[in-house]
Amino acid sequence: MSRKLRIALGADHAGFALKERVRAYLQSKGIEVQDHGPAALERVDYPDYAERVAASVASRDADFGVLMCGTGLGVAIAANKVPGIRAATCNDTLSAYFARAHNDANVLAMGGRLTDEATARKIVDTWLTTEFEGGRHARRVEKIGLIDQNHHREKSL
Ligand code: RB5
Repeated sequence: MSRKLRIALGADHAGFALKERVRAYLQSKGIEVQDHGPAALERVDYPDYAERVAASVASRDADFGVLMCGTGLGVAIAANKVPGIRAATCNDTLSAYFARAHNDANVLAMGGRLTDEATARKIVDTWLTTEFEGGRHARRVEKIGLIDQNHHREKSL
């Protein structure tokens, strides 16, 4: 029996309303949601939440992450600092399709100021139903992993 998909969620104040809607949508699909906050609408700094979600995905506590700020840009930039994370900003379904099919992205980032709930649902559906194609894309994704390794080794020298 396959286990439930686990998705880690996080946002800042500009993504908070969309996070609440995305959480309800994911739960309605039977997906286990780990909400890393914030729990209420308050002005917060997006790197704090991006790091929590990224750490959860990198440690395999969650299968995917979904992060929301105003544009989806800041949370993705921050999440991509965590080794093993491939966060992609997708405010349209085509980006979501290619982020999964070609980049094997493991964190979806969306902009609460750019993406309405109906579009976000379509983006999430595309993300969840698109498999990584592998093949030539696998070699490129492996090279992304090597960048992580190379630069973390430098740091510890
Ligand atoms: C917050 O005002 C805004 O800068 C943030 O949500 C995000 O869009 C940053 O990338």
